[in-house]
Amino acid sequence: MSTVAVILAAGLGTRMKSRLPKVLHPILGDPSLLWVLRALPPGLGGAVVVVHYGKELVLEALAAWESAGLLPCPVTTVDQGEPLGTGHALQVCIPELDRLGASRVAILCGDVPLTSSATVARLCAAEALLLAMDLPSPGSYGRVIQHPDGRLAGLVEAKDATPAQLAVNRVNGGAYALPWPALRKALQGLKNDNAQKEYYLTDAVAAVAQEIPVTVEVCDPEELAGMNSRHDQAALQLAAQRRIQRHWMTEGVTFLHPDSTLIGPRVELQCDVLLEPGVRMEGSVRLGEGCRIGQGTVISDAVLGPGVEVRPYCVIERALVGPGAKVGPFARLREGTELAEGVHIGNFVETKKARLHRGAKANHLAYLGDTEIGEGTNVGAGVITCNYDGVNKHRTLIGRNVFVASDTQLVAPAVIGDGAIIGAGTTITGDVPADALALSRAPQVNLDGSASRIRSRQKKATS
Ligand code: UD1
Ligand code: MG
Repeated sequence: MSTVAVILAAGLGTRMKSRLPKVLHPILGDPSLLWVLRALPPGLGGAVVVVHYGKELVLEALAAWESAGLLPCPVTTVDQGEPLGTGHALQVCIPELDRLGASRVAILCGDVPLTSSATVARLCAAEALLLAMDLPSPGSYGRVIQHPDGRLAGLVEAKDATPAQLAVNRVNGGAYALPWPALRKALQGLKNDNAQKEYYLTDAVAAVAQEIPVTVEVCDPEELAGMNSRHDQAALQLAAQRRIQRHWMTEGVTFLHPDSTLIGPRVELQCDVLLEPGVRMEGSVRLGEGCRIGQGTVISDAVLGPGVEVRPYCVIERALVGPGAKVGPFARLREGTELAEGVHIGNFVETKKARLHRGAKANHLAYLGDTEIGEGTNVGAGVITCNYDGVNKHRTLIGRNVFVASDTQLVAPAVIGDGAIIGAGTTITGDVPADALALSRAPQVNLDGSASRIRSRQKKATS
């Protein structure tokens, strides 16, 4: 017997005015539903996500998170069909919860992303608990009615409340833990004779509270804030940003301009990392000690070793950057880039599936795709690996201590041996042996006096 989490995510999210289901809208790069799933403690008997609107997109996202190893427990889904209320959402889960052998259920909303993992862990460990918050203007939230000893006495939706009940400012956060047999029984007796003609989960929770004591825990409202509009999304993102930055500042990270810096929840930083204004990092990112990330740089799904210097305005995605490497300004490291220790990638250099060994350099204007570049090799300005023949991609292998002079095109496949020199302006169309000099140049011609003859001809034509 075990605790199973149920995450409500079937709602349309009309006020988001979006084609994307509400629970897939991101906060600092991670969708709201992923925040909720990742906050679940280890050791649960599973999580059931109730879906309906935009179901295909939610299933696709869940499969991607599962294969990326982001989910803390097995996740299954139940299609609610036409959503008839939060109670109905739980009713359709009855067979799945029975199948999973649930003894307790912890219920969360997929559009409430910032409940901390500590709070969710307390919820999942509780016998019978409701998370509430105190709001100065409780608006449309359900009101929490308590016994004098604090136990839950009832829950009333704002639309069904009396004026006296509306004056209560302790509101239902929509997160509950309850014993499954008691909740199951209460769900079977639900009616929709209320202002919204919906099956209210809150009625079932109130019914359980008649049978067993349900504790009310009052949380920081930020933890239970929901995302119903783009305004909410912006406010949640700001709150998340502050929370994440506070954490990393405590761990020894400098933010030169916190307000313009966005750090996702799966970014891990070490001490003495320095982030210049306008840096954005999303997805799974790890930065080693003492990295400096230049202004306006965007990093996603990447690992940077200690002491890496990224100068302003770089884009780095799905790349590994070794210790002490220097990148940018204005460089783009694409998927499958691996830079070893001390590599230099300079301005206007693009790399893709490029492995550069220790100390290799490409300092200006280059495209390095599907290539491996040996230790100590120097790639000059304007060098291009011609990796694509219009149908297939081919690889370029460059040995150690090679000198690839400026404006060289390497038509792949090509293998350049250790210590070779390629003269400026060469088009490589075959392999180059080690220590050879490769050149492909038309001999230079100087025609004496031709320039002035051409100019005088041009003058005549325009006069
Ligand atoms: C609900 C609570 C209210 C509480 C508030 C907290 C009920 C009846 N009321 O109200 O007491 O203060 O949450 O945010 O439960 N959903 C489904 N299927 C449905 C209906 C909703 O999956 O049929 C999902 C929604 O997508 C959303 C969540 O359940 O993620 C909450 O639904 P919502 O309609 O926002 O409930 P509220 O009216 O806000
Ligand atoms: Mg709501």
